Amino acid sequence: MGIERKFKRPVSWLAGRELLASLESILSYLLNGEKQDSRDWMFVEAITPPHCNDTEQEYWFDYIADTGDGSRAVYNVAYLCMSGLWLKDEKITRGHPVSLSRTGEFNQRLPRGEFLFVGGDTAYHAADIAALKERFQTPFNWAYEDIAVTTGEKIDQRPIYGIPANHDYYDALDGFNRQFCHPIVQDIHPLVREQEDLTDPPLGLHGFRREQKSSYVWLNLPFGWRLWGLDSQASKMDKRQQAFFVTQFCDKLTRDGSLFDENKKEEVQETLRNAIPDKLIVATPEPSTVFGKRATSHAAMTELFLRLGLEPGFLQDGRLDHSKCRLDISGDVHHYERYWGNANENGEYSNYASVVAGGGGAFLHPSHTDAGEIKKQSVYPAEMDSHREVTQRILNPWQIFLGGYAWLIGAMVGFITYFAVTVPQSTWSLFELVPNNLRPVWGDQDVLARIQIALTLANTDATLSGYWIDLIYLLLFVAFLIAWRLMSIPELLKVKYSASRDIWNRRLITFLIPVVLWLIPLLLLILEPGESTPPSFLAAILIGLSCVAGLLIFSLIRCYSDILFERSRIRKETWLDFIPLWVLSVMGIFYMAVGFLHYGTYQASIMSFDLLVIVVWSLVILGLTAFPFFASDKLGVAKANIGKFLAIGFWHAILQISIPVCLALYVDWASWLIICGAAIAITLIAGHLFTSQYFFREFSADVQKKIGQGLLIAWIVIGIAVFFATMQGELVAVDASRLLMAFLSGAIFGCIWLGWYLAVSMAFNCHNNEAGGGARSEKFRHMIRIKLTEDTLTGYVIGIDAPEKDISKATIRLVDVFTLQVKK
Ligand SMILES: [Fe+2]
Repeated sequence: MGIERKFKRPVSWLAGRELLASLESILSYLLNGEKQDSRDWMFVEAITPPHCNDTEQEYWFDYIADTGDGSRAVYNVAYLCMSGLWLKDEKITRGHPVSLSRTGEFNQRLPRGEFLFVGGDTAYHAADIAALKERFQTPFNWAYEDIAVTTGEKIDQRPIYGIPANHDYYDALDGFNRQFCHPIVQDIHPLVREQEDLTDPPLGLHGFRREQKSSYVWLNLPFGWRLWGLDSQASKMDKRQQAFFVTQFCDKLTRDGSLFDENKKEEVQETLRNAIPDKLIVATPEPSTVFGKRATSHAAMTELFLRLGLEPGFLQDGRLDHSKCRLDISGDVHHYERYWGNANENGEYSNYASVVAGGGGAFLHPSHTDAGEIKKQSVYPAEMDSHREVTQRILNPWQIFLGGYAWLIGAMVGFITYFAVTVPQSTWSLFELVPNNLRPVWGDQDVLARIQIALTLANTDATLSGYWIDLIYLLLFVAFLIAWRLMSIPELLKVKYSASRDIWNRRLITFLIPVVLWLIPLLLLILEPGESTPPSFLAAILIGLSCVAGLLIFSLIRCYSDILFERSRIRKETWLDFIPLWVLSVMGIFYMAVGFLHYGTYQASIMSFDLLVIVVWSLVILGLTAFPFFASDKLGVAKANIGKFLAIGFWHAILQISIPVCLALYVDWASWLIICGAAIAITLIAGHLFTSQYFFREFSADVQKKIGQGLLIAWIVIGIAVFFATMQGELVAVDASRLLMAFLSGAIFGCIWLGWYLAVSMAFNCHNNEAGGGARSEKFRHMIRIKLTEDTLTGYVIGIDAPEKDISKATIRLVDVFTLQVKK
């Protein structure tokens, strides 16, 4: 091996360095979305992998998904993917040990797959060249070298195929293209070896070769089996891709154009269902069924399946037409779950299963999150193992500290808040927590005293008179703009293709006039200003609200221009269509200008600091309170328990913002050390108590609920206890060391409270993704080795509980085995 290997730890999710570096591409994807769709430029054809002959009795291939993350986990999974695996010669059941070599009783062979299929999210955070090279290619090539050394055999290159998921799209498929698409040099001359081209590096793997030419694939496999790899992020599919798949088995629909005829939708779907291949493996970037939640008939995934002629077995309790046999498989969620696919009481195999298998290397998503609507037939890791692993790790503040820059955010919030309530006049006067004699001394050469002077108003006779009206007006206008975006845009969408100019114009006027009318009160307020000036903090709030109003107006413009863009495809634009763009653009700029010019009457240092404090406090209080309702609430748990989750989020926000300040205000350094130490120790102990086998022998929905309630009560008690502990001290004079204490307290308690928040939320089935990302566990990785025969598909799910740098030390076992059968 020679060169020492650097095993990379899993990527940091909690505002980590890599995540911040990837923000640009993530934002670009979020902003441009479908407009940067490269799929329409692809040349695609069906592929028949090598050795696909029906003369053999069986055919094998491997499946992994969600791969390039912590090197140790990826290396272990890669090792399995390039090795023959051996089972004991006895009845094969779950938990059955797996060996990497034929020894003793291990004489049943699971041969290496003829190809490897990668189901998306090839590397994190964004699957670009650097991430793929470091987190996917390198551990795969290490495994290749080690297998060659251990077995003394040359490992042949077999095809690798893949589909992209969201993390591949964050790099606009550039990395994906290099990792999976047929390389240029081999196209030129079959004998030319790939060169390391630094300006345009390919990403070849020693043990695999690249064959596909598009981001989606159709594989012709032996015995009439077909594998469809769909590039259908967010269950959306471009027409060219849809036409490609349909053409392979029912080309008359694309030839006569009826495939896209909405009037013949039902008829087309019926034709497709009858013509679709009998034996199918459908790989998608996201699962239809996960976390025990039933898919719905109006979900985008259901619509996608119907449009391709795929019977939605996941809506029919796993029932599929008798003549068909199908496996739906995906990654996206980083653990293993199987729905349906069990043999019945008579030992007859099912003909449909839906499998989630995202354990190819990425951090563990808790597998005990469960909506309880559909029973998981198999899950890995077991619920209790998942609960223990993730809860213990997120209730370890050091783990949260290592998991990214959440600690720095907590530190900055603590620092800024303490500074705000002690030094600048505009903000300390809101609370009056510290008497003047404990503040930095005027005239002193101390830095803090100089800053205090710079942030103090020369004239302090500002009053609130009159400016409450401005505040109420701006709050109402902001609320109106949010509501108007939700109400008026759908109305505009309804008539976007309307041939009647009258209908369209009327809708335009109804869209624009109510917004413009809000200008009248603003003009009155500007022309009739109050006699006094507003207090500086109120002035900063008014500036902030004016800017928010301006931004919301620009977001209305964005929505309207998108609609106009779509309309212009079939309807001619007129000068009238552009009036809302002009009027709203002027209004947006006007509101922002009014904010700064009309209310910004104080010196820049005061205004900018007040604005900073308003932004920080708003983000912490509103952001953390609303956090449970973000996109991560895939099960809709927070929305269904809105009061409970608002309270949990608000409690988290209050703790994050108040505890560091209380510590810096009241506590001496010795007591500070004791309070911090005790809080860390109690958190660690709670992590072990609430996962203890002594208290919780079995895992069930009821047990999970009790754990959640217990954790919530413990968190409330600890929060209150810390609060009271801080209040025991005397007020301490403000100086630089206190600012340092606020910073350190924010960092430490930021990690502690975030861990508690995630642990409680996870126990209530919310924040699965964030809890997994915070825990960054490399444990419980897996791959699936799939055997095809004339009548059956058998999946052998191979798991590694704790991946090791030396794989011979790892315990490898069969965590699930399932068989689907083609019914005669
Ligand atoms: Fe993923």
